[in-house]
Amino acid sequence: MLNGTTDRAATLGALLALALFSILSVTSAAAQDGKQIYNNRCALCHGADGDGKGVIMQIAPFGPDFWKASDDAAIAKVIVEGKGRMPAVALSPEETKAVVEYMKATFKK
Ligand code: HEC
Repeated sequence: MLNGTTDRAATLGALLALALFSILSVTSAAAQDGKQIYNNRCALCHGADGDGKGVIMQIAPFGPDFWKASDDAAIAKVIVEGKGRMPAVALSPEETKAVVEYMKATFKK
């Protein structure tokens, strides 16, 4: 019974560590997915580096003007609905968010 408090503290600590670990691994899994989704679904036209040097099409890079003019919602809308010559890409809201996050982290200058 003397150990009750220590046990509880240890359990709490373990739970906190577990929660933190799950949060961290979920975050990195999403970042990973964003990259994967981009490479699978976007890179053919937009280039693996977002530089517009795609294999089947060359689409102008996502330069500084693009990031100034587009917020997350605008980019997500283009992805899901398509725009001009870009076909709509069927992604779930989570996948769309992951791709936008990946693009921001990787291409935004
Ligand atoms: C089949 C080729 C193709 C694929 C695949 C493709 N795109 Fe595009 N994308 C285009 C073209 C072409 C445009 C230019 C549209 C226009 O204005 O006519 C464009 C435009 C865009 C724009 C808007 C740029 C602006 O100036 O507003 C965004 C954002 C974008 N694409 C993101 C993506 C993302 C993210 C993916 C993957 C989920 C993707 N695209 C997949 C061809 C493609």
